[in-house]
Amino acid sequence: MGGLFITFEGVEGSGKTTQHRLLAEALQRAGRAVIVTREPGGTAAGEAIRKILLTPHDPDLSSRAELLLYLAARAQHVTEILRPALDRGAIVLCDRFTDATLAYQGSGRGLPLPELERLCAWAADGLTPHRTFLLDLDPAVGLQRAQTRNSHLVSGEIRFELETLPFHQRVRAGYLDLAHREPGRIRVLDAAWPVEKLQAVIWEDVQEILEGSRE
Ligand SMILES: Nc1ncnc2c1ncn2[C@@H]1O[C@H](COP(=O)(O)OP(=O)(O)O)[C@@H](O)[C@H]1O
Ligand SMILES: [Mg+2]
Repeated sequence: MGGLFITFEGVEGSGKTTQHRLLAEALQRAGRAVIVTREPGGTAAGEAIRKILLTPHDPDLSSRAELLLYLAARAQHVTEILRPALDRGAIVLCDRFTDATLAYQGSGRGLPLPELERLCAWAADGLTPHRTFLLDLDPAVGLQRAQTRNSHLVSGEIRFELETLPFHQRVRAGYLDLAHREPGRIRVLDAAWPVEKLQAVIWEDVQEILEGSRE
């Protein structure tokens, strides 16, 4: 596989979509072929599943049904988009991936992590990001940002924003545990920094990876 797979992770409102877009623009300016995608989603089936996952239900989805929907969307995404793009040598930027499942469905919902890791590896057909940027933020700040964003964006994708603060705190702690376990892949960034400063750090890191892969 010749490409480069980069993911963005973090709680709601931590700036994933913002940084993902800015990195894509910087790479395009540098003349690189870049694929910009997201989870859940990125394929027609995945986007249909996204709608189920991110809009509220009454009664709510069970944790196991939620997990399987995420994994179904991911399996299709890997097969249809991610692997072919990476095999062509493209740079793929993905807004959320397996770490989100471990943090939200594992640490957040309480599904057992060892089992989740096996299911995730199976669903992703073993695909792991080369670099993951974890935008670490106090979820109270992130939820506030997300609410401001949603007031002018009628997406309806609020199911997780309706979760309690303790849920989001568990998710944040889960992400930090993952980063602790895989410091070589996951770079933790302070998402309270200004957008431009975060972008500069991310851009520098990606340039280093690209220069390293040429040698
Ligand atoms: N570093 C930052 N500092 C302050 N506000 C930010 C920062 N990054 C993003 N935002 C704002 O916060 C909101 C949520 O950002 P977004 O990129 O949509 O987060 P996410 O995709 O992680 O939910 C947006 O209105 C965005 O403009
Ligand atoms: Mg986003």
